[in-house]
Amino acid sequence: MKHPIVQEDIDVIVSAIKKEAKQLEGKRILITGGTGFLGNYFLSVFYDLNKKVLKTPCKVIVIDNYITGDKKNILGLEKSSHFKFIEHDVRVPIKVSGNIDYIIHAAGIASPVYYMKYPLETIEVATKGTQNMLELARLKKVKSFLFFSSSEIYGDPHKDHIPTPESYRGHVSSTGPRSCYDESKRLGETLCMTYSKIYGVPVKIVRPFNVYGPGMKPNDDRVLPKFLSHACMGKSLPIHGKGLQTRTYCYITDATVGFLKVLLSKGSGEVYNIGNNEGEINLVDLANVVSGLFDNKVSVVKIDYPSAYPADEPNRRCPSITKAKANLGFEPQMELKDGVSRLLQWYKETYPNLKA
Ligand SMILES: NC(=O)c1ccc[n+]([C@@H]2O[C@H](COP(=O)([O-])OP(=O)(O)OC[C@H]3O[C@@H](n4cnc5c(N)ncnc54)[C@H](O)[C@@H]3O)[C@@H](O)[C@H]2O)c1
Repeated sequence: MKHPIVQEDIDVIVSAIKKEAKQLEGKRILITGGTGFLGNYFLSVFYDLNKKVLKTPCKVIVIDNYITGDKKNILGLEKSSHFKFIEHDVRVPIKVSGNIDYIIHAAGIASPVYYMKYPLETIEVATKGTQNMLELARLKKVKSFLFFSSSEIYGDPHKDHIPTPESYRGHVSSTGPRSCYDESKRLGETLCMTYSKIYGVPVKIVRPFNVYGPGMKPNDDRVLPKFLSHACMGKSLPIHGKGLQTRTYCYITDATVGFLKVLLSKGSGEVYNIGNNEGEINLVDLANVVSGLFDNKVSVVKIDYPSAYPADEPNRRCPSITKAKANLGFEPQMELKDGVSRLLQWYKETYPNLKA
């Protein structure tokens, strides 16, 4: 049984994507990183599409090595004949029998604390892992290949390039503390474009901008899980540096609809920002949004960058989503405060031990 908030989210996504999802009728989809935060929402969406929308169910093959994913996320689904779970590291080539129609390559090490801890794994999953999946896509002649890049490929954009469009080339360090993530995602994109040009693999690239929602583990170490778990435990909210760095946050339902629209779009070699173009907010104000959701006082503390966290953060990050709006009708709906309240309720009910 899914948590009611997650089930509501899945209902919203299924209803928004119903029309495009008809293309998945009877198809076989391979997803890497399927037990992570974003991957798990995809699995739930495919499960419900099979129940409610598709006359001939789609089959889903999930590959994960569980480096940051959670085996608990497969509970229930492993009993479904439409789902197959393979424990495998995508840095190593893999043979999969039968046809594959769609590949979603979401495996990656997404949280800054984890990519500091596993820099080589981070580089290799985005480069070798991507090439291995592109080879599979080429062999199986897939209808669409979706690569999860990142907004981090833009580095720290100059203020003239905010909101940042897909055409912006980036302002990125190749040697800095974040480079293992930023630069390997950039090379992952290059590999996708090369396979599109040389072999005609129909690739699409998404650059997600700070997606959040239920399913992010409290110890994930990205900002909202960190703030909310600290606040639940009565600890102060840690802000790195002055806290003036800004982001926009995109709730998981909006983002998943965007990702699926990109996967199921026509053409090849297209790149899309998927995120929220509104509500740019700095860390201090975000901490205030979080503390406003608690009855008891939540304190905020400014700290130096801990050694486990990569400094050199982008100062501002806000996408232009004009292209996704125009081509795909992508339009984020969820207000930040509402989305954060949903995540908080999910934490309280899923992790009752998160208490002061
Ligand atoms: N969530 C966001 O806001 C965001 C933003 C930008 C980019 N992305 C990208 O989207 C993808 C999914 O992100 P997420 O938030 O779900 O992260 P996540 O850490 O929750 O999930 C990533 C999944 O990939 C798996 N994985 C990692 N390396 C692997 C390997 N070598 N072989 C097989 N599986 C492997 C992990 O075990 C995990 O299940 C990542 O590629 C990430 O870089 C996410």
